Amino acid sequence: MGYSIALAGKGGTGKTTLAGLLVRYLVEKGKTPVLAVDADANANLNEVLGLEVGETLGDAREQMKKGAPSGMTKDLFMEMKVQEAVVEADGFDLIVMGRPEGPGCYCAANTLLTQFLDKLLDNYRFTVIDNEAGMEHISRLTTDNVEVLLVVSDPTHRGVQAASRIVDLTEQLGLSIQRRMLIVNQAKDGQEAMIREVVGRFGLELAGIVPEDPLVREFDLEGKPTVDLADNSPALNAAYRIFDRIAGE
Ligand SMILES: Nc1ncnc2c1ncn2[C@@H]1O[C@H](COP(=O)(O)OP(=O)(O)O)[C@@H](O)[C@H]1O
Ligand SMILES: [Mg+2]
Repeated sequence: MGYSIALAGKGGTGKTTLAGLLVRYLVEKGKTPVLAVDADANANLNEVLGLEVGETLGDAREQMKKGAPSGMTKDLFMEMKVQEAVVEADGFDLIVMGRPEGPGCYCAANTLLTQFLDKLLDNYRFTVIDNEAGMEHISRLTTDNVEVLLVVSDPTHRGVQAASRIVDLTEQLGLSIQRRMLIVNQAKDGQEAMIREVVGRFGLELAGIVPEDPLVREFDLEGKPTVDLADNSPALNAAYRIFDRIAGE
């Protein structure tokens, strides 16, 4: 069975950026095959990874609500849709959850989806899940174990407090998560001691601190994939040191 690492945190903290860098890290270290899962309704992990996306699983759920095509069971239909939604890249695959458009209940579709996603995850050594802030999502996404939850925060007291609430929520939801750790991203020079102090106050385990890196934002502004950052990017290097600890062995 694969090893899942999920990212969570408020919008704009850097989940997608770090998810993309983690995918690059795992591929570079030969820890393949890797599955990247974009579980944010506002999907954009593909841009960070430099990939085009076709159909999402949101489309599949929408279609399933209308019923599977005649002569096909719902199971077979959903399994086929999951296969179709996988985008293949170099050393890793990407699947985008998307969001169904209409109102109404997608419960049956979601249950089936979870089942086939779990099956899909078995094919990969590592799975990286770029989640949205609401953690209920992770519970719906997979019944499998998440080994590491990385909650991303900006370097503020309120940010760390919000991260701490997300950690609490995952505990209340009874999600099967082995380790919960915090990454403080976009830190400025000289903030490290204060960050450690604040994180300690909330009793969170600090996975590491990633500095503010103007090139990361510049790439985003210009629409260049974050994974194409040069090897000497300070943000990339700090992120890699964190990944060495959580996925290095
Ligand atoms: N370490 C960093 N230094 C500079 N800019 C960053 C850094 N991490 C993320 N960003 C920028 O912050 C913005 C939000 O990042 P993103 O990964 O999309 O956050 P989220 O997925 O949590 O909403 C993006 O413009 C991204 O390029
Ligand atoms: Mg994001």
